[in-house]
Amino acid sequence: MSTKEVYTSEKRGSDETGDGTKEKPYKTVLKALLVSGEPFPSLFVDGQDEQTPYDAIAKAQLKKQTKLYQQEDEDAAKRQQNIEDAKKIKITLDKSLPTAIPIKLRDSKEHREKRVSIKGWVHRIRKQSKSLLFVILRDGTGFIQCVLNNELCQTYEALLLTTETSIHVYGTIKEIPEGKSAPDGHELIVDYWEIIGNAPPGGSDALLNEEAHVEVQLDNRHIMLRGENTTKIMKMRSVVLQAFRDHYASRGYFEVTPPTMVQTQCEGGSTLFKFDYFGEEAYLTQSSQLYLETLLPSMGDVYCIAQSYRAELSRTRRHLAEYTHIEGECPFITFDDLLDRIEDLVVDTCERIMKSPLSQYVYDLNPKFKIPTKPFKRMDYSEGIKFLKEHNITKDDKTFYEFGEDIPEAPERAMTDLIGEPILFCRFPKDIKSFYMSRCPENKEVVEAVDMLMPGVGEMIGGSMRMHDYDELMEAYKVNNFNPKPYYWYTDQRRFGSCPHGGYGLGLERFLCWLLGRYHIREVCLYPRFRERCTP
Ligand code: 4AD
Repeated sequence: MSTKEVYTSEKRGSDETGDGTKEKPYKTVLKALLVSGEPFPSLFVDGQDEQTPYDAIAKAQLKKQTKLYQQEDEDAAKRQQNIEDAKKIKITLDKSLPTAIPIKLRDSKEHREKRVSIKGWVHRIRKQSKSLLFVILRDGTGFIQCVLNNELCQTYEALLLTTETSIHVYGTIKEIPEGKSAPDGHELIVDYWEIIGNAPPGGSDALLNEEAHVEVQLDNRHIMLRGENTTKIMKMRSVVLQAFRDHYASRGYFEVTPPTMVQTQCEGGSTLFKFDYFGEEAYLTQSSQLYLETLLPSMGDVYCIAQSYRAELSRTRRHLAEYTHIEGECPFITFDDLLDRIEDLVVDTCERIMKSPLSQYVYDLNPKFKIPTKPFKRMDYSEGIKFLKEHNITKDDKTFYEFGEDIPEAPERAMTDLIGEPILFCRFPKDIKSFYMSRCPENKEVVEAVDMLMPGVGEMIGGSMRMHDYDELMEAYKVNNFNPKPYYWYTDQRRFGSCPHGGYGLGLERFLCWLLGRYHIREVCLYPRFRERCTP
């Protein structure tokens, strides 16, 4: 026996962080043997009780562990030999074959029976035998199963290939035999391949998997985005944006791109993000509405798709600190026209989405999706108060909401889910709504405002008619304690040919949650921003 002593403890030890000392023992005897090598040191294991924390290992146990060690040693040698053998196998590009046509995977169907070359990322690997390897390749436009036979899967690179490695494959696309399945009903019979960029052992699993903690998933959002579901969501985000733009173009709206660094507020001081703008106080915009209003006299109906910011303190499944805001503004309309336009926007955009080539993704993610039908239920706030009472939806202290009180998110959602269809929720008490909203001509206590409420999601659109009378607006600044000075350009709209007008804002992420049946708003963001999360 050697005089060196190595300690192990099943109770207190660790094979990852231990060093074999009394203070930091290894967990297993096998680990101690593998680290020490031969000749073996004197080994100690857990003692009988607290007085004798360690005992010398029993002979029988040592014998058993030595056998395991030898087995492991042989396996390691075999693995090393395989690697050495693999290093000797070299594959080459056969120049006598027909020239490979470089393609993207979306075009693979048209290239059946042709020799092609494809660059992409290893999505999944399945080793069938020593001479057969399946690689599912992904290139952002589609997937294909690549078949690597014989030497092609016996090289050093093939042996160590991991998911997320980028590769270049050459081969012929063949329809798959009946009874077998693969994406698009065909596969690529590879005749040559090479690595473009390696990935760490274990591929993306080295960083996260489906069971990973939410914060770990968010830290690794850049890798999460490579997943199948997330990719579908991000592609639908693109399709949805295009559908909104197509809707607006077909209805004669112009798109504008207002600044997002501003010196005025639109939706209340409590959610303003302040920052230092070359020594002056400025804010990240909460809404582009005020700027859209300034374009009505020159461009008529306008819209924008821009980022809006809200310093929301609470982390809910519907609130972001930064979101994509789709806003429209229209001159010379009535409140009823505004409601019709909101309905048209939602229904027509959904129809466009469901006619797009990727519409299947909506059903993949949300099998129950149905395009809503016009007209939407229209309901006044005062009816909402009644509804809450009739359905016994109360505040925490069991009292009822009364006219004049803001209906918070939870009871509003409870009502929406009970009704189970889109609601244009209208005419709120003036004191709970924004400074710029115009009063209802028939009842000056309420404003011509609307929230579109959707089952499962709650408020998806907020809109209103705007005060167009100069004096009324000046009074509103006063009541809300605003200094009118920074708003001079907004006020001027009421001096230089004012007109009745209205508009709305739709939160793209809330629309996506509704369309794609997602529970949490962070699932539909590229890199979500909310309290304590500004990375990556
Ligand atoms: O109801 P909001 O605050 O209305 C406005 O900003 C108006 N100035 C818009 C206009 O009339 N042009 O916000 C409009 C929509 C909400 O219905 C919601 O969909 C979304 O913006 N939204 C948010 N989405 C995610 N996270 C947040 N913190 C959001 N705040 C509002």
